[in-house]
Amino acid sequence: MTRLEPSQYHIPVMATECLDFLAIRPDGHYADATLGGGGHTSLILERLGGSGRVTSFDADDVAIAHCRSRFSAELERGPASRLALVHANFDTMPDVLATTGGVDGILFDLGVSSYQFDHHERGFSYRMMAPLDMRFTPEGPTAADLLNGSSEADLAHMFFTYGEDPAGRSLARAVVQRRALAPFRTTGDVRDVVIQRIPPHHQAKTMARIFQALRIAVNNELERLQRTLTAILGVVRPGGRIVVMSYHSLEDRIVKDVFRDHKDLLTILTKKPVEASDAEQEANPRSRSARLRAAERRHEHQGL
Ligand SMILES: C[S@@+](CC[C@H](N)C(=O)[O-])C[C@H]1O[C@@H](n2cnc3c(N)ncnc32)[C@H](O)[C@@H]1O
Repeated sequence: MTRLEPSQYHIPVMATECLDFLAIRPDGHYADATLGGGGHTSLILERLGGSGRVTSFDADDVAIAHCRSRFSAELERGPASRLALVHANFDTMPDVLATTGGVDGILFDLGVSSYQFDHHERGFSYRMMAPLDMRFTPEGPTAADLLNGSSEADLAHMFFTYGEDPAGRSLARAVVQRRALAPFRTTGDVRDVVIQRIPPHHQAKTMARIFQALRIAVNNELERLQRTLTAILGVVRPGGRIVVMSYHSLEDRIVKDVFRDHKDLLTILTKKPVEASDAEQEANPRSRSARLRAAERRHEHQGL
């Protein structure tokens, strides 16, 4: 991968709001669950003193490679480095962070980065001709496997629920008919089905929804988020913050419900989800669907 400027890889969304809700202490230990291009990690590092630390996770090796290069000066400080990069799914965070004595704040910026969306050969975007993969790590079924192997009812559920597409059922039928002729292999195969079935002015939106549904299903994103958010509560120190930015209403619902279900442990800091300012939405269209929720672990629980 050629070296990219950070802003070419991904522009961090709601940077000020995330940092304010994390309430960084210079000597604190923070975790970034979704490193991506390292935008938020870099801002956390800027606020840390010499004894502060940040541990940042990403399941995608391209994101990790980009950040190894971006943060090489910090990483080369060896034991004095304030940054640790972890190439792993964020569902490993509770175990990894438990070994370091817990954290003072965790940030989740869910979904995919602009780089993954725009350049990736793994088929995250319908705009690029690529194999239908969509896995963050090369394990488990690909998007093509799901399209070729799922029942019509499961496909309909996936498109309707994860893609929020009202035409989910008829798309599922179209997928089953098409795969009887030839299996799905590339993003172009999905585009062909949509072009045949959907009127031109709805095609882009439908493709975006199908691709979103496939990505969520392939990476088991909703179940992982629910499980990780719940497990992570055990490693946030009293007074520590959890900040989550989601881009899909089902993700936002999970965050809301996990926070609400743990009211005994958490003070919810955002009654309603925070949205990007008009100026940010204008400058960075990716920020338009972002919803931020934050909570603080109560002091009376000294579980760690
Ligand atoms: C929206 S980007 C994060 C951008 C980052 N905040 C920045 O400012 O550059 C989301 C990143 O999270 C990663 N990701 C998504 N789900 C993940 C998971 N379950 N475990 C680990 N990484 C994940 C993706 O690979 C992607 O790089």
